[in-house]
Parts: sequence; C-alpha cells; structure tokens
Amino acid sequence: MSRGNPCIGGHNTEHTKSTMEVPKTYKDSLVVYVNGKKICDSDVDPDMTLLSYLRTKLRLTGSKYSCGEGGCGACTVMLSNYDDQQKKILHYAINACYTPICALHGMAVTTVEGIGSTRTKLHPVQERIGKAHGLQCGFCTPGMVMSMYTLLRNNPQPNTADIEESLVGNLCRCTGYRPIIEGFKTFTESGCCGNPSACLQPGDEYNDMVSGLFTPSDFAPYDPTQEIIFPSELQLNDKYRSGVVQFSSSTTTWIRPTTLKDLLRLKFEIPDAVIVVGNAEVGFDPTVRKLQPKILLSASRVAELLQIDVSDDAITFGSSVSMARMCEVLKKRVEDLPSCNGQTYAELLNMLHQVGDCQLRNVSGIGSHILSASPLSDLTPLLMASRTTLIVASLKGGSRPLSLNSSFFVNYRKTCLTKEEVLVSITIPAGLKNEYFAGYKVKKQVHRRDKEVSMVNAGFRALLEGKTNILKEASLIFGGIGPTVVIANSVSEKMCGRKWDEALLKDVQHMLGTELQLSPQGGMVEYRRSLLRSFFFKFYLKVLNEHCERMSDSSLSDSDRPVLLDVEKLPSKSTQLYQEVPTGQPQSDPVGRPIILESACQLATGEAVYCDDVPPEPGELHMALVFSTRPHAKIISVDKSAALSLEGVRCYVDATDVPGKNTWPAENPLDEDSETFASDKVIHVGQPIGGILAETQDLARKAAKLVKVLYEDMDYVLSIEDAIKRNSFFQHVRHLEGGDVAAELEICDHVLEEEVYVGAQSHYYMETQSCIARPQERDEILIIAASQNLHDLQMSVAETLNLPANKITAKIRRLGGGFGGKLEPAKHMARMCAVAAKKCAKPVRLSLGRDEDMQFVGTRHAVLAKYKVGWSVDGKLKALQLELLLNGGCTEGPSSWIADKMVAHSCNTYKVPVYDIKARICKTNISSCGSMRGVGTPKSVAVMEMIMDAMARKSGIKPEKIREINLYKEGDVDNVNQELLDIQNLRRCWDECLQRSDYYQRRLYIDNFNNKSRWKKKGLAVVPLKRCIGFEVPFLNQAAALVHIYLDGSVLISHGGIEMGQGLYTKTVQIASRVFRIPAERIHINETSSDKVPNSTPTAASSGTDLYGNAVRIACEILMERMEPIIYENPKGSWEDWVGTAFMRRISLSASGFFKYPDIIGFDWNNLKGSKGQYYFSYGAACCEVEVDCLTGDHQLKRTDIVMDVGDSLNPALDIGQIEGGFMQGYGLYTLEELRYSKEGKLLTKGPGMYRIPQIGDIPSQFNVTLLKGAPNKVGLYSSKGVGEPPLHLAFAAHLAIKDAVSSARADAGLDGQFRLDSPATPERIRLACPDEFSNKLNNRTVLDCEFFIRP
Ligand SMILES: Cc1cc2nc3c(=O)[nH]c(=O)nc-3n(C[C@H](O)[C@H](O)[C@H](O)COP(=O)(O)OP(=O)(O)OC[C@H]3O[C@@H](n4cnc5c(N)ncnc54)[C@H](O)[C@@H]3O)c2cc1C
Ligand code: FES
Ligand code: FES
Repeated sequence: MSRGNPCIGGHNTEHTKSTMEVPKTYKDSLVVYVNGKKICDSDVDPDMTLLSYLRTKLRLTGSKYSCGEGGCGACTVMLSNYDDQQKKILHYAINACYTPICALHGMAVTTVEGIGSTRTKLHPVQERIGKAHGLQCGFCTPGMVMSMYTLLRNNPQPNTADIEESLVGNLCRCTGYRPIIEGFKTFTESGCCGNPSACLQPGDEYNDMVSGLFTPSDFAPYDPTQEIIFPSELQLNDKYRSGVVQFSSSTTTWIRPTTLKDLLRLKFEIPDAVIVVGNAEVGFDPTVRKLQPKILLSASRVAELLQIDVSDDAITFGSSVSMARMCEVLKKRVEDLPSCNGQTYAELLNMLHQVGDCQLRNVSGIGSHILSASPLSDLTPLLMASRTTLIVASLKGGSRPLSLNSSFFVNYRKTCLTKEEVLVSITIPAGLKNEYFAGYKVKKQVHRRDKEVSMVNAGFRALLEGKTNILKEASLIFGGIGPTVVIANSVSEKMCGRKWDEALLKDVQHMLGTELQLSPQGGMVEYRRSLLRSFFFKFYLKVLNEHCERMSDSSLSDSDRPVLLDVEKLPSKSTQLYQEVPTGQPQSDPVGRPIILESACQLATGEAVYCDDVPPEPGELHMALVFSTRPHAKIISVDKSAALSLEGVRCYVDATDVPGKNTWPAENPLDEDSETFASDKVIHVGQPIGGILAETQDLARKAAKLVKVLYEDMDYVLSIEDAIKRNSFFQHVRHLEGGDVAAELEICDHVLEEEVYVGAQSHYYMETQSCIARPQERDEILIIAASQNLHDLQMSVAETLNLPANKITAKIRRLGGGFGGKLEPAKHMARMCAVAAKKCAKPVRLSLGRDEDMQFVGTRHAVLAKYKVGWSVDGKLKALQLELLLNGGCTEGPSSWIADKMVAHSCNTYKVPVYDIKARICKTNISSCGSMRGVGTPKSVAVMEMIMDAMARKSGIKPEKIREINLYKEGDVDNVNQELLDIQNLRRCWDECLQRSDYYQRRLYIDNFNNKSRWKKKGLAVVPLKRCIGFEVPFLNQAAALVHIYLDGSVLISHGGIEMGQGLYTKTVQIASRVFRIPAERIHINETSSDKVPNSTPTAASSGTDLYGNAVRIACEILMERMEPIIYENPKGSWEDWVGTAFMRRISLSASGFFKYPDIIGFDWNNLKGSKGQYYFSYGAACCEVEVDCLTGDHQLKRTDIVMDVGDSLNPALDIGQIEGGFMQGYGLYTLEELRYSKEGKLLTKGPGMYRIPQIGDIPSQFNVTLLKGAPNKVGLYSSKGVGEPPLHLAFAAHLAIKDAVSSARADAGLDGQFRLDSPATPERIRLACPDEFSNKLNNRTVLDCEFFIRP
C-alpha cells in the first residue's frame, strides 16, 4: 500500500530569512535511561557527546575514547528505543563518540558497566571474551563486548558471519582478533568446542600436542531472558517521543521536532539551522563547529521522514530511515522479487554492507548520506544509476520532485536544496528486465575523509534491447574523481545503440581515459584511472555473463570468469598447538598452562582503570597543547590573549615556565636539540609550543586553537629522497664490513643491484598518550602516566622541574597498548604536564586526541634500501652490499640505536660470507621517529627477504629453495660474531612450517589456479625468522622486583615492568606461584610505581618477562630460602602456618630480587670485535597464501601457518596471543598501513578514517599457530623465550605471497622475472604492478604519483 509523499503548502519561496533566530518557547530536561537508571538533566550541553557525558558527567569510564571519529568502536554502547513505525523495541550498537547526548532524549543506553560486573556477575559475553583470551591490553574490549552484546540482544544465536559483521567497526591492535571470534563463536548454534584439534586433518602427526586454549564447558550458559528490560516508562508512554523539545547552552541549541510540519516551520524560521540525523557528518564538519550560535534540528524522530513505502515498482524511504533499516527492507525485497527486478536492490544491499560499520549504519540516515554530497559516497553512484528520485519540501514552497542527477550536486559537498528545504523521501525504482546494475569500490580502503585522499567507486547501469545484445540505455557514474560524483554522460551516450562486445569495451576504455578528467586532488591519479577502467571491465563481463551468454551471442572465457566472484572471505577457522606440561607437574603449578590474564575480568567489565580513567581530584585542570603548524620555522610571537579571555581558562604554559631543563641537547652538537616546549623555533608539525589550562578538556582544546603563533618559515625536508638530495643526515653512521665485497661481487655468477622501500608505521595503540600530574606536599609530585618506562620519565621530570628524583613518584596500573610508542613521547607528556601542575599548583591532566597523538608521536622509520647482491649459480649467497637509509625525523633520538640493530641483524636467517652493510639516518622535519615493536629489524628483515625473493626470481630458483640453501647452520655465527644458540630450531621451524602448511601441494594447486585465471591470482610464500631478544645495550638488561608476604599468606608483587597487554603481570604471578607453591589467586600485583621499585629499565625489546620474571623469581626464592628451615620443621604445615611462624621468629617477609643477563657485553662497533651482544635468539617460520584481485589491487589473506620457537612456553595462551597479534600488526605494516604527509609537512593519515590498521575482516580465513615442541631454552626463565616482537616479522610472508600472485599476472602480460614491489603492498602498488590494457605499465614506488602526498 502506498502512502505517497506528503505534500506541504504551495510553491512560494519569497519568505527566506537570512538571520538565525532561536525559538524561545521550549526548554526541557533531558531524560535518558543509563543502565536501567533514569537520568533527568536540566543542564545538558547540546555540544556534548554521549561519550563525554558517560565518562565525565556520570563517571562511567568503561566506554573508551580512542579515535573520536567513529572509526574504532572503542566507545560502542547499546541504544534502545521504542520504534513507533515498527511498534517494537529496537536495540542497536552505536558509537558514543559522535552521538550527541541530546539525541538520546527518551531512549535507554546500556554500557559495559550495565551488563555485568566483578562485584555481581559477569555477563556471558564478558566472561567468554576473557576466558577465551580475547583481550590483551583490554582497551578495545568494552567496545567489543557491547557490539557482541547488542548482536545477541537482537539475535540470541548468531552465526559466525553475523559475529564478524557486527565487529567490523571494532578495532583491536593487540589480539589479531582470532581469539575474540573464537570466544564469541561459542554463542553460535554449532558453537565451538574450544578444541581446535577438531579442525585438524585426520592422520595429523602433531596430535601429541595440546590444542585448545579454553574449555567452553566452563562458561556460564547464555540465557537471553535474563537481560535488562527496556524501561516501561519509555515503552508505554510517548511523552518523550512526541512534541518538540529543546536543549540549550550559551552557544548551542538542539531542537527535536517530531512532525514534518514542525521541521519545515523551524527550517523556515531558522534557515541556517543544521539538520542532524546520525551526526556522522555534522559532528565532524568544521564549518558547523564554528557556527555561533549553533542551532541543530534533529530529524531522526520526524515521523514522516521515517516512513517506508514498498510497492511493486519502487520503494520509497523517508529521508531519516537509517541505512541499517534500509538493509532490512532491501533484503526482504530481494528475497520476494524475481531476480531481474531485484537486481538494483541486491546491488544496493551489497554496497550498503560496505558503508562504514554497523554502528554507523544504525544511526545514519539514507537522506543525510545523499545530502552529505560526498564525492566519495559509495551509495550515490548506484542510486544515480538506478534513476532514484527525491521529494524535497519547504514550508512556503511546498514539495517538489527532483532527480538524483548531475544537477542535484552543484559543487563539493553542495546540493541544489535551498536553505529552507528539507529532503522528505527517496524513491528507488525496481529493476527492469534486461537491465543490469553493479556498484564497485576497492574494499580494502576505508579512506573516507575525501578532501585529502581519494579512491574511486562506481555505479553502472545497462539496459539492453530484449533478445539482443544492443544497448538501449547506459549510465556510468563515478565517485572520487572530482569534487562531486560524476556522470560520464558523453561516454554513456556514445555507448547507446551499440552491441555489447569487445569493440564496445575497447572504445569505452579509451573514452574513460580521454573524456573523464581526474582531479589531481587526492593524488594516485594513475591508480584511480586504472580503477575506472577495471571497474567497467568487471561490469562488461557481468553483463556478458548474465545477458549475452543467455542470448548465446558471445561468452566469457574461462580465465575471465573468476572476475565475477568477489575475493572470497570464508568465516575464519584456526588451530593452536602447544606442548603439554611435563608429566608430574602439580596441578597447582600454573607455569606452562594457558591461564587467563590476571585482570581479564576487570578488562571485560570496563572496571579496569587506565590513566585517563583515574577519577579527577578537586580543582583538577585540563591541559591542551598548542602544536606547531609548520615543519621548520622561527617562532616570532605567540598571542594567547583570545584564549585566556575565555571563562574557565586559567593560564598558558610554555618554555619560560620550565623551572629546570627545557632543552635536551643532542649528543652531537650539529644535531637538533629536543625541547619540552619549543622555545624559539619549531622543527616539525605537531611539536608542542605551549599549553592552555582550563576547567574542562573541551574548553582547553577550544582555547588552544585560539592561540596565534607567528612564524618565519625556514627550509625543510620531509622524505628520504629529499634528504638525499639535500644531504641532510645525522652524524651517526653505522658500518659493518666483512671481507672484500667489491672483489667478491666481481666473481659472482649472478649480481643484482636494486632499491627497495619499506614504509613507516604508526603505533596506533588504542589508548592515546595521557598523563596526570599532581603536586603533593613539600614539592613532591605524583605522576600517573601511560608510559613504558617510569624510571626514565621520573628522571626527566626531576630535571625539568629542577627537583631531586626522590620527590617524583611515577606510577601506572596498565597501558592500553604501547608497542614502543609510550617510551620517549610519554616522557615528553609527563614533563609538560608536570611543568603545568607546578605553575598552577593544581593537578593537571593531559590526554591527546587521536589526531594530535599521531602527529606528535614519531613513527617507525621508513627505510630506503640500496643493495647489490651476488650469488652462485646454485643459489648460494656470496656477497652483499647494503645501504639502509632511515627517515629519522627531526632529532636523532633512538634512531642511532635502531640503525645499529638493523645493521647487526640485517641478514635475518641467512649466512652471507662477505658483506658491507651501512645505515645512515636522514634528518627531516617530521616528528622524531622512534622505537616500535621490533625496533628496526622488521625493516631489515623485510629488505633481506625482498633480496632473497629478487635473487630467486632473477635466477629462476624456487624462492623456498634459495632460502633453504642459505639458512644458518649449527656452528655458524652471525655478522656481529654472535653465537647462534639453538640454531637447529630454525631449521625445525622451517621444515615443520612447510609440512604443516602443506606447502608443496598447495604450490601445485595455486600454479594450476593461476594458469586458468587471468585477473584473480593466488600467491604463496614462506619466510624464516631469527630474532634477537633483549637489549644490545648491556645496562638495560637489568631488573628489580619487590615481593611482600602478608600474615594471612597473601602475596603482593611489585616490579618495574609495565603491563600493556602482553601478560607480564600474569606471567610474574605464575612464576611466584611456582616458587611459593601456592595458588595464583593468592598472589596480587596492583601497579608499577617508581617508589616501590626504583631505576627500572624500559619494558621493551621482548625482554619484560625474562628480566622482571627473573627478578620476581629471585625475590621469591630469597623468601623461600628464609622459610626453608620452618618448612623443614613442619613439612605438613600450611603456607599460612609457615608465614605465621616466620613472622613470630622475626624473619623478614619482604624481599627484593635483582636480575641481570649474565655475560652481556655488547658488540664493539669501533673495532668490529665479536662479543656477546645478545642473550639468545627466537626462531620461527610462516607461510601465507593470498588471493589478489589484479583489477583493483585488493587482496585477501587466505591462510597463515606459523611455527614459532618460544622455548618452553610459560603460558601458551599468552604466547600464542602475542604471535597472532604481532603477526597481524606486521601484516598491517607490510600490506595496509601507509603514512602520508602533505607537502607542508602535516600528517594526513592521522585517524582510522585515513590510516588503515587491520580489521576483523583482514585476518586469514585459516590461521594456524604451532609452538615448536621440545625446544627448551637453556638460558631462559624456566626454559622459555621472549615472544613480543619476533612474530611481527613473519607477516612479511603475506607481502611476498602478494608479490607471488602479482608475478603470475605479470607473466600473463609477458613480463617475467624480478620486479620491485615496495612495502606496504597497498591496493595502489599492487594494481600498478599488474600491467594490463587498463593500466599504464607502472611498477614501482618512484612512479607512484607523489605530487599530492609525501611518503616519508
Ligand atoms: C566512521 C565513518 C565511516 C564511514 N564510512 C563510509 C563508507 O565506507 N562509505 C561511504 O560512502 N560513507 C562513509 N561514511 C560517511 C557516512 O556514510 C555519512 O557520514 C553518513 O551517511 C551521514 O549520515 P548522518 O545521518 O550521520 O549525517 P548527519 O551528520 O546527521 O547529516 C548529514 C547532512 O545531511 C543533512 N540532512 C540530513 N537529513 C536532512 C533532511 N531531511 N533534509 C535536509 N538536510 C538533511 C544534514 O543537515 C547534514 O548536512 C562514513 C562516516 C563515518 C563517520
Ligand atoms: S569510534 Fe568512538 S572512539 Fe573511536
Ligand atoms: S586488546 Fe584490543 S586493543 Fe588491546
């Protein structure tokens, strides 16, 4: 039944008002239920988001801030409301960070705190993510929990695909997602036995190992009837849902009408008022943010805009219908209609599923999506192609129909609607017989901030004459090629009347090159142009397949057919294998068992306290930084008067306020000093110049933006290429020589000289940098800091404040991820915070926004490698000349140490007899690059593996063979004369990996597949790894711990190590439990603090457990030694008896333990003399299979098999977690994550909308991890090995598998042999490396267009 479109008034447009008037008649209290509790707020700020409201006003800190732009899901909560259209209660996941609190009037919110707690009972979702080891740092966990919880509220027995889809919007940087899926799979009908051995092949010879990291039978059953009920007041009564409500602050007014009449009247009275539905555009629009006063009209509850009308030939959606609701309606329609009529809807549905994530689709309106007028909208091209029409209305002008065509979009983000007009509805016609549609986008990119980065998408329609192949009508519509979505009208016109055949294809390809102008804005012009052609080619094949074959006119070749299938992503499955604990090990001894994180329950319930969750003290001030906007400039003046004039702003702090040392001189006088606050010049964009202190964070940030800095610009350098041209280098050069390389290269059978580039990487920990400084009595200061190195932080704050270190206490309970990014930057944060606290004599809190964090914190180094390699005819490496050029950023910082590490370990697992390896550090004006998981070696290993691959391709030897031939053997030493302890494990890992992955069989299958498929290619690669553990610098290899036994027998551990998700606290508890022979539950560890354990070394370099675990072991052993006589006297006594007796005998029950690696001396670089620089090595191997869509550059990781040597694992669940998480972070490094700067030195990729870290959909469909059995580490703690960093390197197998697939595409195009594929292997690089008739033959980094971006 058609309800038609409402028609309002007549056509009269005379009454346009230009000024904004706020209606004065309404004034309301916000009513919202939070976790079942009614909240009435008569003083609500319409600018406040739900996330700020929860965290600051209600002090519910379980929901986290991580990106603030809807891109990570850390703030996910469940929203429930009664829907008058559907007459039912709806529950949906939303992102609280951009949902205005006022939008929730009359609704109910459930946060992670509302569904379960450690004080009452955990919700099954919380319990299962914890017990299945689906959390590490836990910062993403509340969001994950709430996405899953909401799914279950709507669908108590989902399938795995439902789970994966519901978690697409939730990022996790630690776990690699596999254990999260595994834990949640237990809610599916088939469930998961928790024992992956069920997935093993029959006859598998590894069945003597243990599999399964959790026992599902331990889980409490899920009973959907026990959930919190929707507040009856909101259901039975529509008083909050009807009528106009208004909330106002001094700057912003929020008005929510519920009828179209009221909305039109308001829009007429206040034409400049901004309509809001999901707020996903308005919330981030800088022009809207600047409006003073700002009037927002919420259209999400206007009844007429929520109507849906389904008829035989069309569907009409009210403008505010959410994309999620649209999906439901389209799905039903596709099921009901014959396929030819449902095709438009099916294509739209498919594309809708690719727009953002569930959280976005649940709130964003289809009308607002169109009206955002984004040239990158994924839906608009398809809607235009489908001849969608719109109805718009205004109070005086009445309603008018509009076509969604090129005259609708008048300019960048501008439509033809007048200020008073409102979009009422959208009508999408059903498909016709012989009509074909398709929409395309490159799935792997999430770039959506269209100003900076463009990616094209397309919507196509073709209507053919019945029973012929003659084209009657055609529409080719493209997004991402200019300021608006573009209709290729002239191309479409020339196509009409022609036969759908190869001649047409050829002509269209030509016209797409000549008649469509691609805007250079956004860069990547060649790639985008090739995509236009590739998309059309796909459409051409689709029509050929669906229509022309039916007409028996022409048919698809077999090698083209796979194009019609999407790159396949199967629901993930996995196995994890590890060895059993030795027979006879007491059940109570947790060492070697997969026990869960000691604070898993707190993390899963949102009770875990991170730095920014610490409750504020009275009088606390918030600090916001004034950052440099120039890469290199003199500071002429700073005018902070406008900022200081705002009410609530307290003061400005800068270098002049630093009581002690502001400048940290560089080691070399020619290099730049580091400064806490830039004093007279800036050396990178994002460098702190000063800070504003104010009563709230929002106010401080707003005021900081008002500080005006006048600069005098100086020359600057951003990229490695520029640095080479300008000879801009730091003084430190590391050079390692062995033999006469030039002479050896002369006599090699093969020599290859090449250049490769491995890009930088952002740490992207989920918790941004944060710090609190609290002045105490007698000049003391307490620092709570998200830092990986409290001692260094303490010392540097002491020097900055000119105080002795004993007045500074630094502490932290946990970090929301660190990955090396919370070393130097956290110290810098603490110094700024401490100076501010000192100046104001108030507690000061400083937390960075994601964009600030990414611009401020230096990244992993980008590296350009130039090499010349020589090898024999049988593949034996003979000589290597290698120069590594690192982009070090503006100060040398840890770059020199990192360069040394790269040089020392640049040959990975291969014996290179003669070598000349050099590293130089480019001095550029980006933030100072620093440590990141793997510190340097992920780059040098990648370079070495690229070299091995190039050798194989050049000489025609199989890549796995050339690797095998050159692997280190027993008795070898590495390039820095380090003895290769346990080197036999390398070969064991390699062999086992080949065997477990069924490498040779799959190689045959893949070659066969590739022979038959021209545009989809599969690739396979295997890489070995040798990775050092610990610091090369001897003094860092020391650690201390303090252990107390209390009289009730409970134990408290303190040590200098930081818990950041790697499980250090858990492992140290396991160790104490073993030594004391008491259950782990009796042992507690509460925080790391400099006043308990002084002079700690950084928790980094995979050495945390070795160092701090050993220190704890030693402290415990000292205590046990003291108690030994008592135990001897009373062997049958209990632990409590012995403790009591010890106390009565005045035996100290507190001990400190100190550990240092013995024999670490460090390599003598000056004399190139060998000495022990490393304690031991960890070994591993990984095999990856990918499938590449050569037409778009998209790829999918199909399978990964890892075999890793971790010695005798202390905790297989934690170690496997590190392997999977590290691998996925490496996968991001080598294939997805690319940093880009503007020509002015501004980081463009500074949030999840622009910077692409792996999502749940990226994990391999099959992910198998095996811990090498029977490989005890003779020198390790309880025979274990450190595991944090090594697995990351193994992900280079994915890059090489992509290269393998690309090489097959190149062979089809007649290009054999070696080619260059830089890292990361982004869709752009992949596409351009696959030359064909649709792309220009471009295949390396130098030809990627860098006009728009600077790649560091
Ligand atoms: C994290 C994230 C990921 C995203 N990913 C994608 C993606 O993959 N693909 C893609 O295409 N897009 C993507 N987007 C963009 C997204 O689709 C749009 O931002 C969203 O659809 C806007 O809907 P909204 O209701 O939230 O808009 P709002 O911000 O509420 O409003 C948007 C605009 O529409 C106007 N408006 C709304 N209704 C009316 C009306 N009835 N009459 C007149 N004017 C009206 C508003 O005034 C405003 O100008 C993403 C956005 C985010 C935040
Ligand atoms: S999505 Fe809200 S903080 Fe990232
Ligand atoms: S556990 Fe997911 S981000 Fe750390």
